[in-house]
Amino acid sequence: MYTRDFNVDETGATHPLEQGGHQPLEDALQGQALAAAALAVGSNGRLAYIESYGCQMNFSDSEIVASILHEAGYGITTEAAGADLILLNTCSIRDKAEQRIRTRLREFQGLKQARPEATIGILGCMAERLKAQLLEEEKLVDVVCGPDAYRSLPGLIAEAESGQKAVNVLLSREETYAEISPLRLDSNGVTAFISIMRGCDNMCSFCVVPFTRGRERSRNAFTIEAEARDLYQRGYREVTLLGQNVDSYKWLNPETGQTERFDALLARVALVHPDLRVRFSTSHPKDMTDQVLQTMARYPNICKYIHLPVQSGHSDVLERMNRTYDREWYLDRIAAIRRWVPDCGISTDIIAGFCGETESEHQDTLRLMQEVQYEMAYMFYYSERPGTLAARKYPDDVPLEVKKRRLNEIIALQSEHSLASNRRDLGKVFRVLVEKESRRSAAHLCGRNDQNKMVVFGREDWKPGQYVNVLIEDCTSATLIGRVVSPGQMESVAVAAVQTA
Ligand code: SAH
Ligand code: SF4
Ligand code: F3S
Repeated sequence: MYTRDFNVDETGATHPLEQGGHQPLEDALQGQALAAAALAVGSNGRLAYIESYGCQMNFSDSEIVASILHEAGYGITTEAAGADLILLNTCSIRDKAEQRIRTRLREFQGLKQARPEATIGILGCMAERLKAQLLEEEKLVDVVCGPDAYRSLPGLIAEAESGQKAVNVLLSREETYAEISPLRLDSNGVTAFISIMRGCDNMCSFCVVPFTRGRERSRNAFTIEAEARDLYQRGYREVTLLGQNVDSYKWLNPETGQTERFDALLARVALVHPDLRVRFSTSHPKDMTDQVLQTMARYPNICKYIHLPVQSGHSDVLERMNRTYDREWYLDRIAAIRRWVPDCGISTDIIAGFCGETESEHQDTLRLMQEVQYEMAYMFYYSERPGTLAARKYPDDVPLEVKKRRLNEIIALQSEHSLASNRRDLGKVFRVLVEKESRRSAAHLCGRNDQNKMVVFGREDWKPGQYVNVLIEDCTSATLIGRVVSPGQMESVAVAAVQTA
């Protein structure tokens, strides 16, 4: 039977003091291995194991790495023990994330003793941040490969096999892996992520990403559209367009000579098929335009959900964070969302205890939360990252107990808001894309509504990839619970009208 006595949601997302990685990827997925029953054997008879940490972009990169390795003849396995090649795709966003990966590496020590011929590699943001230093610190690491160097991975592995340690951490201004078709091995076959850009030019003072991922660059829109179309044809019904700041997407279309911005890309992907839902993450308050909101309002298949990280509710803190907007600007963007997309779900990221944060600045964050009433939030306490602007400029002077207390207050308030938001949905009917079996009951399925809320309902004969209309009868702070009242309506007519407009 389905039990509703739980305090984690269907996705496994909790509100921990510290998550292993960043939103919107659930803590439960951190360290997940890329699965591949169908590809157990490749042409060279060797097996690769890839474990991923951090954000969705990083998980998406693991699928590109799997594709590159498969081309080079590797099969992919979920068992580290039997693998010839063990790769950890790592995250540096907070100190805890790095510590967790170092612990994991220690666990691999035993494996390496049993199979000294196995090659161990570090990919991703930690590889980029620590570079060759990692080889010194972690003696069992053979390969270090940064996020823009994955095409060189087969060569690096060959080098390592010949007995040398191999490193490539060159960042690129062009690499977008545009034409590489990611191997979506552990997918549910219904929802997929598409990277639309790489890097970040924003230099938020707390953030390591610009150093680990390099300069911002946008991917060719034709290849994005083709990937979405291919996914639709293979039965997928939802794509999430990924970038650190999707609103600064910018690509020169060689056919028209016009520069395409994010609103144009959204429309392009929405037109692939009315039954293909389109999501995106992450939006940046300084760049989120009314045109994007208008495009969301125009296409029924663009999900009415925006993740708009605020970080702090006080303008002085935002200035120290170098976020380049203030409280008023942020609230104006929230008002714009409510104006153009009235039924939009809104979530955010918040950092508690940033350098110099006073009690009253913290209170302003709580007040902003009261004002906005987020559906959901990812909440962290500040973790100083070496080399960042904040590390160089401001002392990390809020004591850990104070950071944790403030974070707990933020979490408690958000739980109230999430529950209140879900209670407002009781009695409503939502169109839900069926994703998979509920974690807690084989008799139930789950999927998300437009606003990105997880909805659980009786299984009946519904299949992943179908749309259903669910009447909401119950809820927790993290999940809506209901029953299917009818199959989901097609919205082809509405989109066709836009297409010809
Ligand atoms: N590009 C996205 C988010 C990238 S990192 C954006 O700009 O919103 C995801 C989240 O991790 C951030 O929004 C921030 O809330 C958190 N984060 C980043 N660096 C952090 C640090 N040094 N300490 C604590 N949290 C941090
Ligand atoms: Fe980091 Fe800011 Fe870029 Fe987001 S926008 S990745 S927080 S520097
Ligand atoms: Fe982590 Fe790198 Fe993503 S630091 S959050 S894996 S961009």
